[in-house]
Amino acid sequence: MKVILYMAMTVNGMIARENDDTNFISKEEWDSYSAAVRKAGNLVIGHRTYNILTKQPEFKEFEKVKLVIVSRKKFETLASNHIISKSPKNSLKLLKGFGTIVVAGGGILNTSFMKAGLVDEIYLDVEPVVFGRGIRLFSEEDFEAKLKLIGTKKIYKNEIQLHYKVIRR
Ligand SMILES: NC(=O)c1ccc[n+]([C@@H]2O[C@H](COP(=O)([O-])OP(=O)(O)OC[C@H]3O[C@@H](n4cnc5c(N)ncnc54)[C@H](OP(=O)(O)O)[C@@H]3O)[C@@H](O)[C@H]2O)c1
Repeated sequence: MKVILYMAMTVNGMIARENDDTNFISKEEWDSYSAAVRKAGNLVIGHRTYNILTKQPEFKEFEKVKLVIVSRKKFETLASNHIISKSPKNSLKLLKGFGTIVVAGGGILNTSFMKAGLVDEIYLDVEPVVFGRGIRLFSEEDFEAKLKLIGTKKIYKNEIQLHYKVIRR
C-alpha cells in the first residue's frame, strides 16, 4: 500500500486564498488530479475540504470513489461511500486493500499525515501564480521531512508537476 499526497499549490506554497477560493487552479491540473483519484478509487480529505469540494460541480467525477473524511466530529455524510475517520492512521485502515491511497488536503490534514509519518510520495502541481495571504500546503506545526525528487512533468505549457519520495529515517 502506497500513500500519496497530491496537491495543487502556488509557487510560494499556498493551496487556497484566505476565503478558500481556489480559482487559480487550472483545468489541466484538475484533470490530472481527478484522473489520479479515480485511478486509485479512493480519496482522503479533511473536514473543511469535504465541505468545500462537495459543493463544486466537478465533484460528480468522484461518484464511484471511496471517500474518507478525517474529523473528530460526528456528522451526516452526503453519500454512503463517504466515511468519517477519527484519525489519519484509522483512515488508512478503512482503505485496506487499495494499492494506492490518495491524500489531498487541506493544509491541516496534510500536516497531520506528515507528522504521523504516513506519506510515501508527494505530487505537487505548481500553479504559475504567487499571493501573500492564504492557506498553506502544510499548516504551521513543528515537523520536518527530507524528500527525494523522483520525477517532473509538464502538465501544460505553464505548469509543472513535482514528484517526491519521502525519505524514511
Ligand atoms: N490546492 C489544493 O490542491 C487543495 C486541496 C484540498 C483543499 N484545498 C483547500 O484547503 C482549504 C482547507 O484546508 P484546511 O487546512 O483549512 O482544512 P482541512 O485540512 O481540509 O480540514 C481540517 C479539519 O480536518 C480534520 N482533521 C485534520 N487533521 C485531523 C486529525 N489528525 N484528526 C482528526 N481530524 C483531523 C479536523 O476536522 P474537525 O474540525 O471536524 O474535527 C480539522 O478541523 C480549503 O480552502 C480548500 O479549498 C486545496
